[in-house]
Amino acid sequence: MHSSPTWDPGQYLRHAGHRTRPFLDLLARVPDLPTAPGSPPRIADLGCGAGNVTVHLFDRWPDAHVTGLDNSAEMLEAARAHTPPEGGGRLDFRLADAARWIPDEPFDLIVSNALLQWVPGHTESFPAWVAALRPGGTFAFQVPGNFTAPSHTLLAELSTSPRWRDRLPTPRAHSTPVLDPAAYLEHLAALGCEVDAWETTYIQMLTGPDPVLDWVKGTALRPVLTALEDDPTARDTFLAEYAALLREAYPPGPHGTAFPFRRIFVVARTAA
Ligand SMILES: C[S@@+](CC[C@H](N)C(=O)[O-])C[C@H]1O[C@@H](n2cnc3c(N)ncnc32)[C@H](O)[C@@H]1O
Repeated sequence: MHSSPTWDPGQYLRHAGHRTRPFLDLLARVPDLPTAPGSPPRIADLGCGAGNVTVHLFDRWPDAHVTGLDNSAEMLEAARAHTPPEGGGRLDFRLADAARWIPDEPFDLIVSNALLQWVPGHTESFPAWVAALRPGGTFAFQVPGNFTAPSHTLLAELSTSPRWRDRLPTPRAHSTPVLDPAAYLEHLAALGCEVDAWETTYIQMLTGPDPVLDWVKGTALRPVLTALEDDPTARDTFLAEYAALLREAYPPGPHGTAFPFRRIFVVARTAA
């Protein structure tokens, strides 16, 4: 069973701080853009979500024209509340499916934070995206690399248990939604890019009751919550069972609940 998960901007933004840091770490490795003097950099943010990381692009390129693209009308509605900060930049948002998006204009930077794990076969789009970059332009993305962590394996085990398997989508832990950094490097180097690829495991300190469950509700649990949205009793039962498993795997300590989170980063620059 597969259905597109619905996204909840409010739930997603509850952990905005932890989600922003990898984006800033990614941007720190993006080289200067090839923009001609006097013309603003053209930037696409693919899978922009609620736009909360998109606006950080203006910290580095205050006069940029940034277009955020996402396939969730709910996320885009939240994103449209953002305006570009002072600096002469321009910000707009468009509905687009990353699985089919082919840029129809040249970009200096195509950036994507925490999207491509939702797009099966995304490396097949790399040639079109790299081809849309101006010479010396950059394609930069970050994806989670924690699909074998207990948060995911426990979700997969519970979802495929006899009690739940007929009601829920096939869990993503049974597929490989992202590649390792070296494999991404190979794909993009083969397209003529100079590639910087790496991984980092952040030890995120989460607070409050069932904080890992709260985190996962904004991302990996979306398909389950969508599948059970018409049956609140079943949804609550599932959440209680999953929460108990998470409490065992990630016990709270004196300073909060440590939640290790591996992320994969890739910055690919075309020849100038
Ligand atoms: C984890 S959020 C990341 C949002 C934002 N980039 C950030 O870092 O906060 C993933 C986003 O990808 C979007 N998304 C999922 N599948 C998509 C697709 N096929 N095309 C475009 N956007 C997609 C979701 O709507 C959601 O806004």
